[in-house]
Amino acid sequence: MVKICCIGAGYVGGPTMAVIALKCPEIEVAVVDISVSRITAWNSDALPIYEPGLDEVVKKCRGKNLFFSTDVEKHVSEADIVFVSVNTPTKTQGLGAGKAADLTYWESAARMIADVSKSNKIVVEKSTVPVKTAEAIEKILTHNSKGIDFQILSNPEFLAEGTAIQDLFNPDRVLIGGRETPEGQKAIAALRDVYAHWVPVDRIICSNLWSAELSKLAANAFLAQRISSVNAMSALCEATGADVSQVAHAVGKDTRIGPKFLNASVGFGGSCFQKDILNLVYICECNGLPEVANYWKQVIKINDYQKTRFVNRIVSSMFNTVSGKKIAILGFAFKKDTGDTRETPAIDVCKGLLGDKALLSIYDPQVNEEQIQRDLAMKKFDWDHPVHLQPMSPTSIKQVNVVWDAYAATKDAHGVCILTEWDEFKTLDYQRIYDNMRKPAFIFDGRNVVDEAKLRAIGFIVYSIGKPLDQWLKDMPAVA
Ligand code: NAD
Ligand code: UDX
Repeated sequence: MVKICCIGAGYVGGPTMAVIALKCPEIEVAVVDISVSRITAWNSDALPIYEPGLDEVVKKCRGKNLFFSTDVEKHVSEADIVFVSVNTPTKTQGLGAGKAADLTYWESAARMIADVSKSNKIVVEKSTVPVKTAEAIEKILTHNSKGIDFQILSNPEFLAEGTAIQDLFNPDRVLIGGRETPEGQKAIAALRDVYAHWVPVDRIICSNLWSAELSKLAANAFLAQRISSVNAMSALCEATGADVSQVAHAVGKDTRIGPKFLNASVGFGGSCFQKDILNLVYICECNGLPEVANYWKQVIKINDYQKTRFVNRIVSSMFNTVSGKKIAILGFAFKKDTGDTRETPAIDVCKGLLGDKALLSIYDPQVNEEQIQRDLAMKKFDWDHPVHLQPMSPTSIKQVNVVWDAYAATKDAHGVCILTEWDEFKTLDYQRIYDNMRKPAFIFDGRNVVDEAKLRAIGFIVYSIGKPLDQWLKDMPAVA
């Protein structure tokens, strides 16, 4: 029986391994982590992450061929294939701080693999890493190997949160990079055999190590670039009276461009896009390519601009001050169908409004008060460094109130901001919300989910990203 061990039971390690266990009943899969609370949750009925369809997959395999454990060394030493899916955050200190990937967690995992291994292993980079990381890992493993053969593969993960199970069941492609030696090719074939249990072979792409590592950074950069492109257009739409949805529809009808990933928004969030582009920028700089670095940096700059622009629009349209005003925040997660708040645009928008002394009442169906308080108190990039994580910030922000209902959040509010596109926000009783708000009542839709005409008919002043502006908003221009 082939044994797989995955180091890192997070958003990637957990779902990915659960699907491998489901699709490959003859393979034993152990997912290990140094976080006791995470492993306890994986072994309970309340999984540590919210992901549609995940519960069912885990329930079908857990205890049969899928195990979650904190006994990292035992499972690594017994495995034939070791996936490493630990966090690779942005460095907060030292050389490359604010840009380069921090490989501390990766390196310590690699050293541990070298220490405990007694048999040959295939070590798979599942985490997103800088190009050439495999070379560094190879050095660590071979210098400490005691004659054991380690083959390093790069097998980056392309799942998106909220649709992880669907993406894993039916991936556009699986990418496996390895050495171009007979041993490297044999290792590629072994991993290909695992995925071939359910992924059509023509969707399993094999490449050299560096292409696989770079493809992951490139894919995320291209995706984020589309969002920054449409968001840049949204600012121009507001200035000219064009409608960004109509522009995106017309542009996306060109089959060379395609319709996906062209939704204008308050900005992209999530644990990957910003981190991976900053990492790409750093790699370009290190390789003496400042023009290429600046090109990709612009994707992040537009994303920051979009968040600032949104806050400025709120403040300027509410008579240039939100001080002491109650603003309801609907949605805090970085996208719908996840409870993940890493790099969510809601953090920057809320911080911007708090900076102008607003009183915030926040509702998200999947994010609790402890998480929101922690996010608003945390410094940039600290979220992915467990050492910085406190159980609860000792002094919670008093201007922030977290509630479990959209109607409670909006009661007596001066304005409503929609920051996550949860489906339930489309069908709220907006007449009821309007009746219970201060007047004039404002809605700032950062996800273009509401029916503006209907809301205007009720009496709201409505701002939707990239849509033609109300006369009110035209009269109170935002300073970007
Ligand atoms: P995560 O923070 O949810 O999970 C990482 C886990 O690794 C944590 O539970 C942590 O405790 C554990 N860990 C760290 N060091 C360890 C060690 N030495 N031994 C055992 N466990 C250790 O992160 P994630 O979102 O799952 O991302 C993991 C990697 O996958 C990152 O490189 C990320 O860029 C990449 N990725 C993430 C996504 C996504 O949607 N989240 C998608 C594709 C790729
Ligand atoms: C992304 C990549 O899609 C995935 O392939 C990679 O493995 C990890 O990073 P994820 O961050 O989970 O996945 O979600 P994604 O759907 O890409 O959304 C990222 C952010 O962009 C979200 O904040 C989302 O709301 C925003 N977005 C997405 C837009 O603003 N407009 C769009 O058209 C699409």
